[in-house]
Amino acid sequence: MLDKNYPYYLANQAVFANEQLAVTDKYSGEVVTHVAMADVEAIDKAIGAAVASQAALTRMAPYERQNILMHCVKRFEERSEEMALALCIEAGKPIKDARGEVQRLIDTFKIAAEESVRQNGEMLNLEITPRAKGYSAMYKRVPIGPCSFISPFNFPLNLAAHKIAPAIATGCPFVLKPASRTPIGALMIGEILAETNLPKGAFSILPCSRDGADLFTTDERFKLLSFTGSPDVGWALKAKAGKKPVVLELGGNAACIVDEDTEDLDDAVARIIFGAFYQSGQSCIGVQRILVHENIYERFKLEFVKKVAALQMGDPKDEDTFIGPMIAESEATRLKSWIDEAVSKGSTLLTGGEQTGAFLEATVLERVPNDALINTEEAFGPVVTLAPFDDFDSAIEEVNDSKFGLQAGIFTRDLYKAQSAWDRLDVGGVVIGDVPSFRVDNMPYGGVKDSGIGREGIRYAMEDMTEIRLLVIRDVSRG
Ligand code: SIN
Repeated sequence: MLDKNYPYYLANQAVFANEQLAVTDKYSGEVVTHVAMADVEAIDKAIGAAVASQAALTRMAPYERQNILMHCVKRFEERSEEMALALCIEAGKPIKDARGEVQRLIDTFKIAAEESVRQNGEMLNLEITPRAKGYSAMYKRVPIGPCSFISPFNFPLNLAAHKIAPAIATGCPFVLKPASRTPIGALMIGEILAETNLPKGAFSILPCSRDGADLFTTDERFKLLSFTGSPDVGWALKAKAGKKPVVLELGGNAACIVDEDTEDLDDAVARIIFGAFYQSGQSCIGVQRILVHENIYERFKLEFVKKVAALQMGDPKDEDTFIGPMIAESEATRLKSWIDEAVSKGSTLLTGGEQTGAFLEATVLERVPNDALINTEEAFGPVVTLAPFDDFDSAIEEVNDSKFGLQAGIFTRDLYKAQSAWDRLDVGGVVIGDVPSFRVDNMPYGGVKDSGIGREGIRYAMEDMTEIRLLVIRDVSRG
């Protein structure tokens, strides 16, 4: 597995450049392969080729773009185990989660294939005033133009797919920079796209250094920048992006409320363990803050801590592993220092807290002060805080007391509380009866406040990748 070196894709063509990026197995730390790295000249060429391909892409019929997306679905299905293993190695993602991500990649492309033939416009009645008598209008959606995409390390396939698939569905050429730590997933998508008849220049997938990456943000030939990654980087890119619209899918410190009417506490415990610790908590919607009603708090805590302590940590290739390594030892060290800070400020460590290299134990902290980093910032790792509440309204306020607002989860059987949470939570999505970490790939997905701007979820991304073009018709015989 990963026994070959990988090219980058420039204007649909595989290129083996001299400059190479080493990719490590995140479990063993060993270099397992190299990928070609693009320099500024290659990125510039890719943008030029994207611009040149726009006319041919726009001329393609929707069913032709649908065929391309369906070809990808077929090839992903055929190569699913190979792709899962690649993710497992390059991201340290436990193999079960890696297989889940490949399935989501397939879903994402299927959704895009369906949506690609559903992009309709609208007829408008303009005769709302005497001066518009005899006028009517209609609009259609046209591709916005070449798109710049930057995708993160934590879902190397599916979060790249959330940009690539709607671009193909709408007919936008794109240049994508995958995360340097996990470029293989996107390059495998590139390998499959290179088998299709997408017009030359329609796609480029270019791992590159941070210096070279500036063009992805600043070049005015791009008509959209879509970035998924950390809040600090995302907002800094937006400040440099110039006139182009920017979509930012950033992080959060997602909260989950467990109300006193939660009858099946075992189910809530199991779902929250999944939401908090799957792929070592490295998800923007991973559960970070857990608020449990005081009447069930002790019962919840006992069961939760017992099960968290039993989570199996180890080799992500092992079918029984639940917690794999974090993406880098430096990330585990950062988060370990946040645990230490919380403890030094009076928090109780209920389980976990030990770091060995890139591994950090699944950790539960109680009585965490409001100003501790593990409360205010995005953990992006296997650490949660646990706190009781006595009143549902105050729990809602506590969830909102954050600079982030991506998704929130509420375990309640009370319809009025569910509705009130939906009304009052300042987030992009509220999940009732489950964790904030729940996502199906056709959902509108994105955040408010520091968590970002815009929504992904194919249809919503397609809106960002298109513009409305209006046609007004005057019927001279009636004027
Ligand atoms: C993210 O981590 O940004 C996305 C989470 C998901 O797609 O499940």
